[in-house]
Parts: sequence; C-alpha cells; structure tokens
Amino acid sequence: MGDNGSVWLPDAASTLAGEVDALFWFVFWASTVIFAAVIVAKVYFMFRYRRKDENYIPEPVKESKWLETAWIVLPTILVLIVFTWGFDLFVKLNTAPPDSYEITVRGGQWTWEFEYAEGASSFTELYVPVGKAIKLNMSSTDVLHSFFVPAFRIKHDVLPNRYTSVWFKAEQLGEYQIFCTEYCGTEHSTMLAKVVVVSEEDFAAWLAENSVDLPPEELGEQLFAQCSVCHSVDGTAGIGPALNGLFGTTRALADGSSVTADEDYLSQSILDPASQVAEGFQPIMPAGYSGMTAKQIDGLIAYIKTLE
Ligand code: CUA
Repeated sequence: MGDNGSVWLPDAASTLAGEVDALFWFVFWASTVIFAAVIVAKVYFMFRYRRKDENYIPEPVKESKWLETAWIVLPTILVLIVFTWGFDLFVKLNTAPPDSYEITVRGGQWTWEFEYAEGASSFTELYVPVGKAIKLNMSSTDVLHSFFVPAFRIKHDVLPNRYTSVWFKAEQLGEYQIFCTEYCGTEHSTMLAKVVVVSEEDFAAWLAENSVDLPPEELGEQLFAQCSVCHSVDGTAGIGPALNGLFGTTRALADGSSVTADEDYLSQSILDPASQVAEGFQPIMPAGYSGMTAKQIDGLIAYIKTLE
C-alpha cells in the first residue's frame, strides 16, 4: 500500500486522482461555507427578531429584488460549476487514451484474474508498468462484482455477459489495494488483490517470465491462489476441505458414499463441484471453474499431488 494518504483520503497514486480530489474538496468547502453561513444567520436572526413583548406585532416583510435575484443566481452558478467540472472529469475518467496498454480482468467468486495479451496471467496481483496508461477490460464469470482501487480513484461494476472498462496511469511505484466493492457472497470481503506498479524494465521481465510454459506443478500452484480462499494446504478447516494429504485417500461424501481421491475425482470436483460434495461440507463451491482448460486442470491436479 502507498502511505501518502491522510485521515481524509487515501494515497493519490494515479494521474487523475488529484483532479478527483480537487473536485471533492471544492464541494466539501463550498458546503462547509454555506452550512456555516446558514447557522450563523439563523442564530443571529433568532436573537435579532425574537418576540420582545406580548403585544408586539412585527412589520410585514417587504420583498427585496436584490436579495431574491441573489439567492436564485448564486446557487445556480455554483451548481453549474460543479456540473461542468464533474462532467468534464467523468468524461476523462471514462475515456482511456488510445495508446493504452490493455489487460483483461475477470472477476469470479471470490478472486480476481488478470490476463495479458502476451499470454501471461496472474491471480490476485495486477502487474503494471509505471507512467503508462492502462485500460482494464472487465467481466465476471458468475455474479456482479465491482473493481475498486481507492488510491487510483477508480471504481466500476464488473458484470457477467457484459464488458466494462476503467483506465488509470500510475504515477509511482508501489502496491495498491484492490477491493471487490459489490456484495457477491460468503467470501466477498476477502475478494482482494493488489496492483503492483513496477518499472518498465521490471514489467517486461515479469511478462517474459510469466508467458513461458510452466511445469504443471508450478502452473497449478499459481492457479491455486484462487482456490486458497476456501481450501487450505496445511490441514486447517476452511469453507472447503483442506487439500494436503488428500490424493490417493478414500473420501467420505455427503451422500454417504465414498470415493477414491484420484485424478478423475479431482477433475470432476473442479468442473462440477456439486456432484461429489465431501462429508461435512456444504455444496457451495462456485461452478465457475468449468471453463478451465485441460492444461490448467492437469496443473492443479499435479500441484495437489505434491501437497503432503
Ligand atoms: Cu466480488 Cu464482492
């Protein structure tokens, strides 16, 4: 996480963050001044025009053209300033520069996946080069999620069957928190990831390293980042069963039958989780992994085999 934030606002680490904050502070201070003026005037009038004796009848109030014109014109100007300023910023936030580097973002219960045109992909860490406009093309494999990076002042819904996008240009190296900010089920609050802003050279190196074909166990270990939300590898109970020491054992299923935890069992449990629910667990594993390629599934199985 960046550490230049204040009590009021998080770190401002993208090119547009300062502009968003400037508008925020304008609205904040305009509201504060108006609030203070109304309260001061109210207290003053309470004393100035209080009823002084039983028989006192006040003068009728006469109209004041100046006063009426002022309270129509001044708020209108203020509202128009906020509108044009806000609309201009809205357009900027929604228009990625044409030379943006594009990355695919996939939200799914309960993880973020990032795919690069060069063939690399990553879970829970979005690597980007500093000082370059990045456009994220986002969609969901299951329910509604929302992609939120407070330090960049960007937030957008991520929907199934539809693409949405956001863009940013990170100004400083560092790690910045990504939140899912749309309630999406049991583990919504742990659907976290980080933007890792690195130098242009480090990014090229990362891309090259991650675009190569990995051995199955390593590919599996990388993919497992998304499984680890629910499945531990050290025997601790989670939302789903721990997976260490699992391979080759006999598993009791929720329907009373049992099965040997072999390749077929693992593969079917990934593709169709509800078909073989382990005893003592609920059938809540999302079905969204059915899109995994055979290579990815082989990788996961190879990795699970290594867990003791
Ligand atoms: Cu995904 Cu909340």
